[in-house]
Amino acid sequence: MIVSIHISAEKGQVAKVVLLPGDPLRAKRIAEEFLTDTEQYNAVRNMLGYTGTVTLPDGRRVRVSVQGSGMGMPSLSIYANELFHYGVQTLIRVGTCGALQEHLHSGDLVIAQGGSSDSNLNRRRFKGLDFAPLPDPNLFVSAVLAVRERGWQTAIGNVLSTDLFYADHAPEEWKMWAEAGVLAVEMETAELYTLATLKGRRALSILTVSDVIPTKESMSAEQRETCYGRMVEIALASAFAT
Ligand code: HPA
Repeated sequence: MIVSIHISAEKGQVAKVVLLPGDPLRAKRIAEEFLTDTEQYNAVRNMLGYTGTVTLPDGRRVRVSVQGSGMGMPSLSIYANELFHYGVQTLIRVGTCGALQEHLHSGDLVIAQGGSSDSNLNRRRFKGLDFAPLPDPNLFVSAVLAVRERGWQTAIGNVLSTDLFYADHAPEEWKMWAEAGVLAVEMETAELYTLATLKGRRALSILTVSDVIPTKESMSAEQRETCYGRMVEIALASAFAT
């Protein structure tokens, strides 16, 4: 029996590869759409987790889990820690982000090459010094090749993981990050990349632009529905690249 506070699975119930949307109901939707022979292994705090089988385009049948992470780095950190405790090797975040660059559009994919952050988590871990949170290089390269093969509009670069979705105290601060070339803001990637690196596991964030901060463009209802399919396809192509 594995002791884990927020995930109540039996040993072996969680697959080695886990897709990690923030929203637990999105985890349910992904499980319903993409997995067969599906088993729900977690409902603690309604943070739903599922394991099932996926048939890849080359015919291989693989086990995959989908787990909600909640919003923000402290929440993601709890679930990622516990998933690693269950022996998970590969964690791929699939989520949305706010673009900081005018040339990006809602619905564009973003592959996070690095996770900048305004959080205090790594300052505590690294005694005030700087650590560069990076994805697993093989997952990253495979994801880039997969989007290029499909010709999907994709931005590749740095993202900002913020602790404050509502930054009323500094409404212009995003411009500092934009000028440093940061593509988009979300709330989880820096912690995912740091933790995976420290635990010797593989991680990647694949995001879709839900809104563009400088132009105030935002996703259509249809884009919101279809964007997860593309992220899941790229996540599976990179997790199971040969
Ligand atoms: N800020 C933080 N996280 C986000 C945003 C945003 O504007 N859009 C989607 N996730």
